[in-house]
Amino acid sequence: MSDKLFSPARAGDLELANRIVMAPLTRNRADDDTGEVGDLQAEYYAQRAGAGLIITEATQISAEGKGYVGTPGIHTPEQVAAWKKVTDAVHAKGGRIVVQLWHVGRISHVSLQPGGQAPVGPSAIGAETPTFTRNGFETTSVPRALETDEMPRIVADYVHAAECAREAGFDGIELHAANGYLLDQFLKDGPNRRADAYGGPVENRARLLFEVLDGLAGVWAPGRIGIRLSPDSGFNTAEDSDPRATFGYVVERLNAYGLAYLHLIEGQTGGDRNGVFEALRDLWTGTYMANNGYDSDLAAARVDSGRVDLVAFGRPYIANPDLVERLRRNAPLNEGDGDTYYGGGAEGYTDYPALDAA
Ligand code: PHB
Repeated sequence: MSDKLFSPARAGDLELANRIVMAPLTRNRADDDTGEVGDLQAEYYAQRAGAGLIITEATQISAEGKGYVGTPGIHTPEQVAAWKKVTDAVHAKGGRIVVQLWHVGRISHVSLQPGGQAPVGPSAIGAETPTFTRNGFETTSVPRALETDEMPRIVADYVHAAECAREAGFDGIELHAANGYLLDQFLKDGPNRRADAYGGPVENRARLLFEVLDGLAGVWAPGRIGIRLSPDSGFNTAEDSDPRATFGYVVERLNAYGLAYLHLIEGQTGGDRNGVFEALRDLWTGTYMANNGYDSDLAAARVDSGRVDLVAFGRPYIANPDLVERLRRNAPLNEGDGDTYYGGGAEGYTDYPALDAA
């Protein structure tokens, strides 16, 4: 194994100290009423500043974009001020942090929506999957299909969140277009049954994604925008009948943007690494970030081979704030406690020991 995994890398305009990325991890500890993070999140992310790059937990771009209890937002002045504490704390430790911009689409519940309304989606088809509400797990509500003339408003919500992200001092943004949330719902022909310019052939299903990206590129240099896709994954019951064709089209168009990176969930989210991701990787000409069940051996081998530029680690980052140092020293990893992954306070969040304290 060479040391390449631990060597500096460039992702668009971002200079990273190493190739290990903290993947976005939903932890549900934001204020549920205001969507604000606080000192606890500042401490948590600062503890993990040794990562070459931190991608925040998925963060809703609007009240409508929320689908779980206790997730943070990036669309009010108070949320911006709260995130500023996080970015300052990470920067003080020499880290880099981007915020993941998220609209859940149909993966929501009326109890989490403004005015108790139905969530929105490409089509009025329920996801039939549980989400976490104030009453525990409940099946997602059947969405209403967005009207064609609402699309500019959706794009504007993303643009507003991107402006908020700049004000909050982030180093960039990641557009969440994976895992069966709004943009993935539009891309995949299972959830998207529209008959207008946003449904049908892939050129139409990808229209919202590229309108959003064009909007974001008016706020941030493209070299500070990353994107996350999950072509092979049926996570949140979003399936496509031809992932190679759908996502081949998307990746080839993305090449023209000069983005910071493509963050690909390889195979099934949290499951097998199989499917079309290798073929898509061949199409991609920019910085490639791999994600899904990587351990240090696989990460080092894939980086050494040149197939992968950056590796995003998810679950290991929950229990190992100093993951880079542990991998570098080949030190044992702390085990995470699944009971404290979602919700709660400092326990199971900021109390995992670093090596020197262990
Ligand atoms: C979740 O909250 O369970 C979640 C959020 C974002 C993802 C995947 C899962 O991309």
